[in-house]
Amino acid sequence: MSSSPKTPTIRSKLPNVGTTIFTVMSALASEKGAVNLGQGFPDFDCDLGLVNAVTSAMQRGLNQYPPMPGVPVLREAVSEKIAALYGHRYDATSEITITAGATQAILTIILAIVHPGDKVIVLEPCYDSYVPNIELAGGTVVRVPLSPVTFRPDFDKIAAAITSNTRAIIINSPHNPSGMVWTRAEMLKLQDLLDPTEILVISDEVYEHMVYDGKQHESAARFQGLVARSFIVSSFGKTYHVTGWKIGYVAAPAVLTAKFRKVHQFNVFTVNTPVQHGLAAYMEDSRPYLDLPAFYQRKRDIFRDGLRKTRFKMLPGEGTYFQCVDISTVSDLSEADFCKWLTSEIGVAAIPVSAFYGSGFDQRIVRFCFAKSDETLFNALSRLVKL
Ligand SMILES: Cc1ncc(COP(=O)(O)O)c(C=O)c1O
Repeated sequence: MSSSPKTPTIRSKLPNVGTTIFTVMSALASEKGAVNLGQGFPDFDCDLGLVNAVTSAMQRGLNQYPPMPGVPVLREAVSEKIAALYGHRYDATSEITITAGATQAILTIILAIVHPGDKVIVLEPCYDSYVPNIELAGGTVVRVPLSPVTFRPDFDKIAAAITSNTRAIIINSPHNPSGMVWTRAEMLKLQDLLDPTEILVISDEVYEHMVYDGKQHESAARFQGLVARSFIVSSFGKTYHVTGWKIGYVAAPAVLTAKFRKVHQFNVFTVNTPVQHGLAAYMEDSRPYLDLPAFYQRKRDIFRDGLRKTRFKMLPGEGTYFQCVDISTVSDLSEADFCKWLTSEIGVAAIPVSAFYGSGFDQRIVRFCFAKSDETLFNALSRLVKL
């Protein structure tokens, strides 16, 4: 026996994944005492009514494994909500599954549908889990850029990327990081483009209740051609200010849901019982999600009014709780260096949009998160105005 025990060496399945810019910026923000508008989550608490509903479920003894796809009352509440808002009724028994957040939902979908060699289209800039998820499944990532600066889908580029090996496309509206919201015309174009194909859609709709100025969220559930080929993903964490609870859902036709659940049952198996019951009770009142656009639009407007007094050039803010700005009027630095400088010297943390591109494409745009208390927003603005 050798004198010192040795840990075997392993080959990483994700050799290109390192420390993300999100971790770097959050660490720098806390070291410098900066106002953190980098992190994409609220700095205020959720409704006490929701906490009470979950507490009550725990106190009533709802603390053991729930059914694998989620508790029926919550699946029914989700089905009801989608039908009321978007006009398509998913069957709560066979077409809706409760997940441990959208992140788990997306990984599980990809593991369920992507075989080695399959191609999956992502529209960059995109949420950071998509690419490693596809790689873990042995799929090939096909990166198609959204149009620079406007972040609108470029259907010529999407069409050119489609081959007979394309298994799926991931779309995300309202869009992180840009705040862009797909229009009805764009969704119809996607529907037409995919019509002759076998391509599945993963529609990441975690910001579905954050669309502003009276516009509506164009869920894939509104389009029958898309419904038939889509996994729709949403997140209770975003909607109810409880990102740390990690709970969401997937809605998909029964045949797709059956394939999804095969992986889900050996991945997480089930999701936190009392939180599911608490959410189901809380969802009996639709006001919290119906009122969410007004709640966040007010914050967006406070933030945008303040930004108008700075030297940044603002991009549109159609949805999500993110606001992007063009930094070229303020600095010659790259997006990443600017964000580090802004955090250290001005005391406000932001995220470079280049972090959402595989190539690090730098178009001089950074992202702020306005899901913050008014006090935090005013504090950040008082610093940004000095630029
Ligand atoms: C576009 C997008 N998809 C998915 C997620 C993950 O959601 P969850 O916290 O429910 O896993 C996020 C969170 O930031 C996101 O921005």
